[in-house]
Amino acid sequence: MVAPHESGYFTEENSADVVAARNANAENERLRDCVNILVKHIHAAVKEMEPSQEEWFKTIMFLTETGHMCNDWRQEFILLSDVMGVSMLVDAINNRKPSGASESTVLGPFHVEDAPELPMGTNICLDGKGEPMLVRGRILDVDGNPISGTKIDVWQANDEGFYDVQQKGIQPDFNLRGVFRTGADGSYHFKAVKPKFYPIPDDGPVGKLLRSLGRHPYRPAHFHYILEADGFESLTTHIFDPADPYIHSDAVFGVKESLMAKFELIDDQAAIAEAGFGGPFYLVEHDFVLAKEG
Ligand code: BEZ
Ligand code: FE
Repeated sequence: MVAPHESGYFTEENSADVVAARNANAENERLRDCVNILVKHIHAAVKEMEPSQEEWFKTIMFLTETGHMCNDWRQEFILLSDVMGVSMLVDAINNRKPSGASESTVLGPFHVEDAPELPMGTNICLDGKGEPMLVRGRILDVDGNPISGTKIDVWQANDEGFYDVQQKGIQPDFNLRGVFRTGADGSYHFKAVKPKFYPIPDDGPVGKLLRSLGRHPYRPAHFHYILEADGFESLTTHIFDPADPYIHSDAVFGVKESLMAKFELIDDQAAIAEAGFGGPFYLVEHDFVLAKEG
């Protein structure tokens, strides 16, 4: 017997169904279902847009340029996913947290796997540039109990808005990144510099698209964290400076209200001496709450 649509000719009306029917023998059902969903929505979009042949060719050329921009260091398709809000959507779907647990946000392309594990309190700024900052807080469970042994992987851009991996030979390796581990009280603290807003890499087709759409490429100032503790779901997140000029227009939609932290200027002499800085510094205090695994 011939399955529905299998013998049917392709028309504007039945287009997505005809393609889906052709995929019926796929071994991998998940792949087949996802491709069919994509086909359904792409066909619906094309029907709504009614592109000219020339416009469709421009779309193909945009994707071609996006591919050509990718190499071991640069992933232009991830940037495309970021600026379309798809990365944050996938993050939201995969990180539905119980009430009270800290929220996640995008990982971004600048994490490195082998950052050094450092004693608590270490200054992660290796070149002495930027305004000094003390970052501290606690890692807690949803009942408010401290979580000891949490691995805290942090990284940030410098005060000119560049990560060390973007300025190899200019910034020292592992500048402004480090791994810390909490003790019994769940607390953490480290020294750093006040981060600044920065543009996502915008010298490729994604940057060009943003400009054509009247959008800027900036992310508001933030610290990145990955928190991992036995028995808890790992958390990939940021804390943001709420005073940043781009806080309401993050190019990749990563800002959430719960991730705002107060960046406070401290100029009290006793506090400066206690923190071990030579002058005024910024303080940010932020606690994270991890959800139990499962
Ligand atoms: C970041 O925060 O490091 C980042 C996130 C998405 C795109 C580019 C950079
Ligand atoms: Fe970042």
